Amino acid sequence: MQRMTQVGRVAILALAVMLPALLGFGWSQDGVTFRIDRWSSAEREVLASMSLDRLPPPPPDPSNAVADRPDAAALGRQLFVDTRLSRDGKVSCASCHDPQRQFQDDRPVGRGVGTGLRRTMPVPATAHGPWLFWDGRKDSLWSQALGPLEDGLEHGSNRTRLVQQLQAHHRADYEMVFGPFPMLAKLPADAGPLGTPEEREAWARLSEAQREAVNRVFANLGKAIGAYERTLSYGRSRFDRYVEAVQAGDRAGQQTLTRDEVQGLRLYIGKAQCATCHNGPLFSDQHFHNTGVPPRDAHSPDRGRALGLAKVQADEFNCLGRYSDAPAEACAELRFIAATDAGMEGAFKTPGLRNVALRPPYMHAGQLATLDEVVAHYRRSPAAATGRTELARDGASVANRQPIRLSDEEARQMVAFLRSLASPIVEPGTGRDAP
Ligand code: HEC
Ligand code: HEC
Repeated sequence: MQRMTQVGRVAILALAVMLPALLGFGWSQDGVTFRIDRWSSAEREVLASMSLDRLPPPPPDPSNAVADRPDAAALGRQLFVDTRLSRDGKVSCASCHDPQRQFQDDRPVGRGVGTGLRRTMPVPATAHGPWLFWDGRKDSLWSQALGPLEDGLEHGSNRTRLVQQLQAHHRADYEMVFGPFPMLAKLPADAGPLGTPEEREAWARLSEAQREAVNRVFANLGKAIGAYERTLSYGRSRFDRYVEAVQAGDRAGQQTLTRDEVQGLRLYIGKAQCATCHNGPLFSDQHFHNTGVPPRDAHSPDRGRALGLAKVQADEFNCLGRYSDAPAEACAELRFIAATDAGMEGAFKTPGLRNVALRPPYMHAGQLATLDEVVAHYRRSPAAATGRTELARDGASVANRQPIRLSDEEARQMVAFLRSLASPIVEPGTGRDAP
């Protein structure tokens, strides 16, 4: 009897010590109660792989010889905000990529000289992926930058006008970076291969040597902007601090995420399957997927990467083109690209999710207004308007993937987690470079 009581007492004592831990609570040394989050070593490795500490510097861009030169970045920064480079003198890159708004514009589709068909993408950390735009039709930041300048709906300018403006307003800085401006006497005010019929005619009338000289300055304009964009990145979020605390076994530090946020994170890397595509420190695999997002215009759904594939290969400013600084062997991404790929019909680039809660609306044409709607989309996983969705539907698995099933509470926790990915933008030299 006496012995039984002893055993009983020990058992009760042991239970009293373990119970809080079983329920997910523990004590710190100073007596404050903390939640204990259990992660297996495999899970801890997944968490670490998504932490900002794992983000290396952007890979080199051999196609841009000035990619990492501070003088080129300084010129690029001026060009990024220069409205004189647009047809109506009112639009700059920053009109749509507003540094005060995560370098995007909060609109469903971009609005420049005209209104576009797709959602403006944030610029920070874009130097980390091989393909640019929702459909990946560009393979470097510098060639990407040339697109909007000549796009009738964005800056709406043309090549000879741009080159002459660069000469008039930025000549000294340009020459510091790229050497002497070419002799360009008697250029027409407006000429370019993508402009109005008159501009295209004027372009065709130029000599081969003139076109070549204009193209080279035009490409350099892009290279300066690309150098600037490479400096933009993300700072640490609460999620990153949480992962650090988990790795260090720092319980107090783990309280930086709430219980709901941690549950959302568990779902994110677990049964909700988000991390199959949104993975790595930028929460993107930098690849293209059809996820069945309903198009803005059901009658002409956006074909996405299916068209981007051909465009990037035909682009005169790609890595293999004559205005690239790279030797051909350095252009592996482009050389080994699949010429066609049926899976790319209706596929779009996986957007990174850092700061995602700060920039609604979502998807390639801003079709979904809130993160709740985004998570509802994944729970529904509708059929695609063009091509086939990669998300499993109606009990049918796709590539071993099961349908994404989340309860209402789990959906709420998922959104809570996505909000924990907010952080300051890092832009060196502007005071906005705190870690
Ligand atoms: C009218 C608004 C507008 C203007 C002006 C504009 N952009 Fe964009 N930007 C967009 C839109 C919309 C997209 C996505 C378009 C697409 O995928 O077809 C985009 C995409 C990008 C991307 C791709 C990001 C990624 O993750 O792939 C970069 C980089 C970028 N823009 C930089 C620039 C630069 C540099 C300029 C100035 C030379 C500029 N943009 C001017 C609206 C604009
Ligand atoms: C099969 C790959 C894949 C999976 C799995 C996936 N996503 Fe996505 N996600 C994408 C792609 C691709 C887009 C862009 C689609 C578009 O615009 O048409 C996207 C868009 C988003 C966006 C909008 C971001 C923006 O800037 O517009 C959010 C938020 C998001 N996904 C969160 C999630 C969450 C949460 C999960 C898990 C429940 C998840 N994703 C699962 C590929 C995936």
